[in-house]
Amino acid sequence: MFVTENLEVNEQNHLTIGGVDTIALAEKYGTPLYVMDEDMIRQNCRIYKDAIDRDYNGNGLILYASKAFSCLHMYRIVREEGLGVDVVSGGELYTALKAGMDPEKIYFHGNNKTDDEIELAVSNNVGRLVVDNFLELEHINRIAKEKNKTVSILFRIKPGIDAHTHAFIRTGQIDSKFGFALETGEAFEAVKSASEYKNLKIAGIHCHIGSQIFELEPFQEAAKVMCGFIAEVKDKLDIVMDELNLGGGFGIKYTEKDDPVAYDQYIDAVASVIKTCCWEAGIKLPKILMEPGRSIVASAGITLYTIGNVKNIPGIRKYVSVDGGMTDNPRYILYQSEYEAAIANKASDPRDDIVTIAGKCCESGDLIQENTKLQQAEAGDVLAVFATGAYNYSMASNYNRIPRPPVVMVSGGKDKLILKRESYEDLIRNDL
Ligand code: LLP
Repeated sequence: MFVTENLEVNEQNHLTIGGVDTIALAEKYGTPLYVMDEDMIRQNCRIYKDAIDRDYNGNGLILYASKAFSCLHMYRIVREEGLGVDVVSGGELYTALKAGMDPEKIYFHGNNKTDDEIELAVSNNVGRLVVDNFLELEHINRIAKEKNKTVSILFRIKPGIDAHTHAFIRTGQIDSKFGFALETGEAFEAVKSASEYKNLKIAGIHCHIGSQIFELEPFQEAAKVMCGFIAEVKDKLDIVMDELNLGGGFGIKYTEKDDPVAYDQYIDAVASVIKTCCWEAGIKLPKILMEPGRSIVASAGITLYTIGNVKNIPGIRKYVSVDGGMTDNPRYILYQSEYEAAIANKASDPRDDIVTIAGKCCESGDLIQENTKLQQAEAGDVLAVFATGAYNYSMASNYNRIPRPPVVMVSGGKDKLILKRESYEDLIRNDL
């Protein structure tokens, strides 16, 4: 009935998530409210972990791309499930360390890491730094030398794969701010020059071709190209690279139209290509890493809002305004992302109206969705927007000085607050 299978309707005609009544949650915690299904998050972690363990006989590791949703509780879940993490900033790194992540399982990305961030990573013995550019090689080597350490690095490679997704979230092609290009020989030069730095250890290569990708082929293509590069480096420079990190980007079901491949099938399909390529090139199978973010958390989350005014402009459209908007979900204004929604207190009523869901910011573009199906909306109804677990909380802002909503996790039919609602006092905390 709904786009995600953990959403159902109870006898009061209320929407439930993971068996918990969303109206009761809205009453208990207020709205706007993010609700996430911890059991589903853990299940997703296990699907990925089991597949990679099986396909590579234990020589693989799933790194949760924590930019999708990051906070202490989320890193703890990931740690307990035996995954590592991808972090892209000092803030994510700090949070992961505070949550007790094993530093060896932290991979630090970013196209413009500051010295402070590199120092934080090196002092805490973070497993790998993923190097983006030539200047960064120098910086990491200098900082490692100062601290009398050797830092293991991966190279961020642009494999030249054009995955069909929104231009802003496409990263594997040559015109991208991320990484070293393969076809120009830049990547090869980077490996060569890194081999001359005394405090760097070359561990392997990394690529990420984009996000919300539904096809298998771009991942398989990327795997082939990357294996070819490992073979070339071994052949020409006699450097053995032991790790291949293929990034994330697996698509999820935002609307009924989306038809994602099962995550373990992605892993299996890529594994067979990697094994064939390595065998043909005569190279040892490297340790394989993958970095799913969205597909671990997106479907596990919903956002609950209270509907305020309903404004019908005859012959034009009907606006249904909610008490949140682009501040808690900027994905429509940024990418025109599609979402489905329902009125949680009228959950099984037919969605027979077509409306535009608007936020409360002082901005015309502050919309959650246009021309979407909904039940007949009235002030005071609770609106649920589905599949908001990824890149919503993590991209939320305080525009118009709107406090960020809290996050509640449900598990085994129980709810638990994991992130508090920001208060007005929080908003002025750093004001002088
Ligand atoms: N690894 C790297 C190096 C990445 O850059 C990303 C995403 C991932 C892994 C995880 O990709 P995922 O499995 O989540 O698709 N804010 C955008 C998404 C930006 C993704 C950036 N990098 C959105 O809301 O759609």
